[in-house]
Amino acid sequence: MSDDFPTSVPAPFALCIREEIPSTNDDARLLAERGAAGGTVVIAKKQTAGRGRRGADWFADPEGALAFSVVIRPGEPKALWPRLALAAGLAVAEAVETRVPLAGIKWPNDVWISGRKVAGILVEAGADFAVVGVGVNLNVGGFPGELAEIATSVGREAGAAVHRGEFLSELLRRFAFRSGQIGGGFGELLDAVRQRCVLTGRDVELTTYQGRTRGRAEGIGPGGELLLRTVAGIERIIQADEVRLSDVPPKVR
Ligand code: BTN
Repeated sequence: MSDDFPTSVPAPFALCIREEIPSTNDDARLLAERGAAGGTVVIAKKQTAGRGRRGADWFADPEGALAFSVVIRPGEPKALWPRLALAAGLAVAEAVETRVPLAGIKWPNDVWISGRKVAGILVEAGADFAVVGVGVNLNVGGFPGELAEIATSVGREAGAAVHRGEFLSELLRRFAFRSGQIGGGFGELLDAVRQRCVLTGRDVELTTYQGRTRGRAEGIGPGGELLLRTVAGIERIIQADEVRLSDVPPKVR
Protein backbone atom coordinates (compact mmCIF):
# COMPACT_ATOMS: atom_id res chain seq x y z
CA MET A 1 0.00 0.00 0.00
CA SER A 2 1.51 3.31 -1.01
CA ASP A 3 1.82 6.06 1.62
CA ASP A 4 -0.61 8.53 0.05
CA PHE A 5 -3.64 6.79 1.55
CA PRO A 6 -5.92 9.28 3.38
CA THR A 7 -5.41 9.50 7.13
CA SER A 8 -7.59 12.54 7.84
CA VAL A 9 -10.40 14.57 6.32
CA PRO A 10 -11.42 18.22 6.74
CA ALA A 11 -14.10 19.22 9.27
CA PRO A 12 -17.03 18.58 9.47
CA PHE A 13 -16.21 15.15 8.04
CA ALA A 14 -14.93 12.25 10.17
CA LEU A 15 -12.93 9.37 8.72
CA CYS A 16 -13.39 5.62 9.37
CA ILE A 17 -10.60 3.61 7.73
CA ARG A 18 -11.25 -0.03 6.87
CA GLU A 19 -8.51 -2.43 5.80
CA GLU A 20 -10.59 -4.79 3.66
CA ILE A 21 -14.37 -4.83 3.27
CA PRO A 22 -16.79 -5.84 0.53
CA SER A 23 -18.34 -2.39 -0.02
CA THR A 24 -17.93 0.99 1.69
CA ASN A 25 -21.58 1.76 0.86
CA ASP A 26 -22.71 -1.24 2.90
CA ASP A 27 -20.45 -0.29 5.81
CA ALA A 28 -21.60 3.33 5.75
CA ARG A 29 -25.25 2.21 5.69
CA LEU A 30 -24.70 0.02 8.76
CA LEU A 31 -23.03 2.90 10.59
CA ALA A 32 -25.85 5.25 9.61
CA GLU A 33 -28.49 2.78 10.80
CA ARG A 34 -26.69 2.72 14.14
CA GLY A 35 -26.81 6.51 14.32
CA ALA A 36 -23.54 7.68 12.74
CA ALA A 37 -23.49 11.44 12.17
CA GLY A 38 -23.82 13.05 8.78
CA GLY A 39 -20.31 13.57 7.41
CA THR A 40 -19.05 10.13 8.47
CA VAL A 41 -16.72 8.93 5.70
CA VAL A 42 -15.92 5.23 5.31
CA ILE A 43 -12.88 4.49 3.19
CA ALA A 44 -11.45 1.08 2.32
CA LYS A 45 -7.83 0.24 1.62
CA LYS A 46 -9.19 -2.76 -0.21
CA GLN A 47 -12.79 -3.01 -1.40
CA THR A 48 -13.48 -6.55 -2.52
CA ALA A 49 -17.08 -6.35 -3.82
CA GLY A 50 -17.64 -2.73 -4.81
CA ARG A 51 -21.05 -2.08 -6.31
CA GLY A 52 -21.86 0.20 -9.19
CA ARG A 53 -25.19 1.41 -10.52
CA ARG A 54 -27.54 -1.16 -12.11
CA GLY A 55 -25.98 -3.88 -9.92
CA ALA A 56 -22.69 -3.75 -11.81
CA ASP A 57 -19.37 -4.57 -10.15
CA TRP A 58 -17.00 -1.71 -9.40
CA PHE A 59 -13.30 -2.34 -9.81
CA ALA A 60 -11.08 -0.42 -7.36
CA ASP A 61 -7.34 -0.98 -7.60
CA PRO A 62 -6.06 -0.95 -3.97
CA GLU A 63 -2.83 0.78 -5.03
CA GLY A 64 -4.26 3.72 -6.86
CA ALA A 65 -8.02 4.08 -6.55
CA LEU A 66 -10.22 5.90 -4.07
CA ALA A 67 -13.30 4.03 -2.85
CA PHE A 68 -15.27 5.73 -0.12
CA SER A 69 -18.79 6.50 1.07
CA VAL A 70 -20.21 9.45 2.96
CA VAL A 71 -23.19 9.36 5.29
CA ILE A 72 -25.43 12.38 4.67
CA ARG A 73 -28.33 13.54 6.76
CA PRO A 74 -29.79 16.25 4.54
CA GLY A 75 -31.96 18.95 6.06
CA GLU A 76 -33.93 19.28 2.83
CA PRO A 77 -37.12 17.31 2.07
CA LYS A 78 -36.51 13.78 0.85
CA ALA A 79 -37.93 14.64 -2.56
CA LEU A 80 -34.78 16.72 -3.13
CA TRP A 81 -32.29 14.03 -2.13
CA PRO A 82 -31.87 12.63 -5.66
CA ARG A 83 -30.12 15.93 -6.37
CA LEU A 84 -27.26 14.68 -4.17
CA ALA A 85 -26.19 12.55 -7.13
CA LEU A 86 -25.67 15.69 -9.24
CA ALA A 87 -23.95 17.47 -6.34
CA ALA A 88 -21.54 14.57 -5.86
CA GLY A 89 -20.75 14.26 -9.57
CA LEU A 90 -20.04 17.97 -9.77
CA ALA A 91 -17.83 17.89 -6.67
CA VAL A 92 -15.80 15.05 -8.14
CA ALA A 93 -15.50 16.87 -11.49
CA GLU A 94 -14.32 20.03 -9.74
CA ALA A 95 -11.74 18.08 -7.73
CA VAL A 96 -10.55 16.39 -10.93
CA GLU A 97 -10.18 19.83 -12.53
CA THR A 98 -7.53 20.73 -9.95
CA ARG A 99 -5.36 18.25 -11.89
CA VAL A 100 -6.63 18.35 -15.51
CA PRO A 101 -8.12 21.32 -17.38
CA LEU A 102 -11.64 20.03 -17.91
CA ALA A 103 -13.72 17.15 -16.59
CA GLY A 104 -17.00 16.14 -18.18
CA ILE A 105 -20.16 14.95 -16.46
CA LYS A 106 -22.12 12.23 -18.16
CA TRP A 107 -25.57 12.79 -16.70
CA PRO A 108 -26.44 12.01 -14.08
CA ASN A 109 -23.04 11.69 -12.44
CA ASP A 110 -20.32 9.73 -14.21
CA VAL A 111 -17.17 11.81 -14.46
CA TRP A 112 -15.22 11.66 -17.68
CA ILE A 113 -11.93 12.90 -18.99
CA SER A 114 -11.40 12.87 -22.76
CA GLY A 115 -14.36 10.55 -23.37
CA ARG A 116 -13.36 7.97 -20.75
CA LYS A 117 -14.78 7.35 -17.32
CA VAL A 118 -12.67 8.27 -14.26
CA ALA A 119 -15.28 8.18 -11.52
CA GLY A 120 -18.69 6.79 -10.66
CA ILE A 121 -21.15 7.55 -7.90
CA LEU A 122 -23.75 5.37 -6.20
CA VAL A 123 -26.28 7.15 -3.98
CA GLU A 124 -28.49 4.99 -1.76
CA ALA A 125 -31.13 6.38 0.58
CA GLY A 126 -32.16 5.05 3.97
CA ALA A 127 -35.07 6.21 6.12
CA ASP A 128 -33.37 9.32 7.47
CA PHE A 129 -30.00 9.29 5.75
CA ALA A 130 -28.37 8.87 2.38
CA VAL A 131 -25.09 7.18 1.54
CA VAL A 132 -23.06 8.72 -1.26
CA GLY A 133 -20.51 6.22 -2.57
CA VAL A 134 -17.70 7.47 -4.75
CA GLY A 135 -15.17 5.50 -6.75
CA VAL A 136 -12.36 7.44 -8.46
CA ASN A 137 -9.62 6.00 -10.64
CA LEU A 138 -6.80 8.20 -9.43
CA ASN A 139 -3.51 6.48 -10.23
CA VAL A 140 -4.75 3.29 -11.79
CA GLY A 141 -2.21 2.20 -14.39
CA GLY A 142 -4.23 -0.46 -16.19
CA PHE A 143 -7.77 -1.76 -16.28
CA PRO A 144 -8.96 -5.34 -16.71
CA GLY A 145 -10.96 -6.57 -19.71
CA GLU A 146 -13.26 -4.21 -21.52
CA LEU A 147 -12.60 -1.45 -18.94
CA ALA A 148 -9.28 -0.88 -20.70
CA GLU A 149 -11.21 0.75 -23.54
CA ILE A 150 -13.65 2.87 -21.61
CA ALA A 151 -11.86 3.90 -18.41
CA THR A 152 -8.92 6.11 -17.60
CA SER A 153 -7.37 7.60 -14.47
CA VAL A 154 -6.82 11.14 -13.29
CA GLY A 155 -3.07 10.57 -12.89
CA ARG A 156 -2.73 9.17 -16.39
CA GLU A 157 -4.56 12.14 -17.92
CA ALA A 158 -2.68 14.65 -15.74
CA GLY A 159 0.68 13.08 -16.52
CA ALA A 160 1.55 12.91 -12.82
CA ALA A 161 0.50 10.83 -9.83
CA VAL A 162 -2.23 12.31 -7.67
CA HIS A 163 -1.92 12.16 -3.86
CA ARG A 164 -5.02 10.30 -2.65
CA GLY A 165 -5.21 11.97 0.75
CA GLU A 166 -4.98 15.48 -0.71
CA PHE A 167 -7.45 14.64 -3.46
CA LEU A 168 -10.01 13.24 -1.01
CA SER A 169 -9.81 16.38 1.15
CA GLU A 170 -10.27 18.58 -1.92
CA LEU A 171 -13.23 16.51 -3.09
CA LEU A 172 -14.94 16.55 0.31
CA ARG A 173 -14.59 20.33 0.62
CA ARG A 174 -16.31 20.70 -2.73
CA PHE A 175 -18.95 18.14 -1.85
CA ALA A 176 -19.74 19.98 1.42
CA PHE A 177 -20.39 23.11 -0.64
CA ARG A 178 -22.32 21.50 -3.51
CA SER A 179 -24.48 19.24 -1.32
CA GLY A 180 -25.57 22.42 0.46
CA GLN A 181 -27.02 23.60 -2.86
CA ILE A 182 -29.64 20.89 -3.41
CA GLY A 183 -32.28 23.26 -1.98
CA GLY A 184 -31.45 26.98 -2.23
CA GLY A 185 -28.62 27.46 -4.72
CA PHE A 186 -29.71 24.59 -6.96
CA GLY A 187 -29.74 26.90 -10.00
CA GLU A 188 -26.04 27.65 -9.50
CA LEU A 189 -25.27 23.96 -9.05
CA LEU A 190 -27.17 23.16 -12.25
CA ASP A 191 -25.32 25.79 -14.26
CA ALA A 192 -22.01 24.25 -13.21
CA VAL A 193 -23.27 20.78 -14.18
CA ARG A 194 -24.57 22.08 -17.53
CA GLN A 195 -21.15 23.56 -18.36
CA ARG A 196 -19.66 20.09 -18.04
CA CYS A 197 -22.48 17.96 -19.46
CA VAL A 198 -20.97 15.73 -22.15
CA LEU A 199 -24.38 14.57 -23.44
CA THR A 200 -25.73 17.92 -24.58
CA GLY A 201 -26.10 17.96 -28.35
CA ARG A 202 -25.37 14.25 -28.65
CA ASP A 203 -27.53 11.32 -29.74
CA VAL A 204 -28.17 9.02 -26.83
CA GLU A 205 -29.91 5.77 -25.99
CA LEU A 206 -31.42 5.41 -22.53
CA THR A 207 -32.95 2.64 -20.50
CA THR A 208 -35.64 3.90 -18.17
CA TYR A 209 -38.29 2.08 -16.17
CA GLN A 210 -40.47 2.37 -19.28
CA GLY A 211 -37.92 0.68 -21.52
CA ARG A 212 -35.45 1.89 -24.13
CA THR A 213 -35.66 5.31 -25.69
CA ARG A 214 -33.48 7.26 -28.08
CA GLY A 215 -33.11 10.88 -28.93
CA ARG A 216 -30.92 13.96 -28.93
CA ALA A 217 -29.90 15.26 -25.50
CA GLU A 218 -30.86 18.93 -25.42
CA GLY A 219 -29.52 19.73 -21.96
CA ILE A 220 -30.53 19.61 -18.32
CA GLY A 221 -33.85 20.98 -17.11
CA PRO A 222 -34.63 23.02 -13.99
CA GLY A 223 -35.12 19.97 -11.77
CA GLY A 224 -31.88 18.31 -12.87
CA GLU A 225 -33.66 16.08 -15.40
CA LEU A 226 -32.24 15.25 -18.83
CA LEU A 227 -34.09 16.94 -21.69
CA LEU A 228 -34.37 14.47 -24.53
CA ARG A 229 -35.68 15.40 -27.96
CA THR A 230 -37.46 12.40 -29.43
CA VAL A 231 -39.80 12.00 -32.39
CA ALA A 232 -42.64 12.73 -29.95
CA GLY A 233 -41.11 16.01 -28.72
CA ILE A 234 -39.12 16.87 -25.59
CA GLU A 235 -39.16 14.19 -22.89
CA ARG A 236 -38.00 14.92 -19.35
CA ILE A 237 -35.93 11.99 -18.12
CA ILE A 238 -35.84 11.98 -14.33
CA GLN A 239 -33.96 8.74 -13.92
CA ALA A 240 -32.24 6.31 -16.25
CA ASP A 241 -30.52 3.01 -15.61
CA GLU A 242 -28.22 3.25 -18.54
CA VAL A 243 -27.23 6.16 -20.74
CA ARG A 244 -25.17 5.51 -23.85
CA LEU A 245 -23.92 7.77 -26.56
CA SER A 246 -25.30 6.36 -29.77
CA ASP A 247 -23.35 8.57 -32.17
CA VAL A 248 -20.00 6.87 -31.51
CA PRO A 249 -18.85 3.28 -32.08
CA PRO A 250 -19.82 0.91 -29.20
CA LYS A 251 -16.34 0.51 -27.69
CA VAL A 252 -15.98 4.15 -26.67
CA ARG A 253 -19.50 4.64 -25.33
C1 BTN B 1 -21.11 3.52 -11.04
O1 BTN B 1 -20.53 4.27 -11.83
O2 BTN B 1 -21.74 2.54 -11.46
C2 BTN B 1 -21.07 3.82 -9.57
C3 BTN B 1 -19.81 3.26 -8.93
C4 BTN B 1 -19.74 3.54 -7.45
C5 BTN B 1 -18.56 2.84 -6.81
C6 BTN B 1 -18.32 3.29 -5.40
S1 BTN B 1 -16.76 2.74 -4.79
C7 BTN B 1 -17.21 3.24 -3.20
C8 BTN B 1 -18.66 2.90 -3.00
N1 BTN B 1 -18.82 1.54 -2.53
C9 BTN B 1 -19.43 0.76 -3.42
O3 BTN B 1 -19.68 -0.46 -3.26
N2 BTN B 1 -19.74 1.47 -4.51
C10 BTN B 1 -19.34 2.86 -4.38
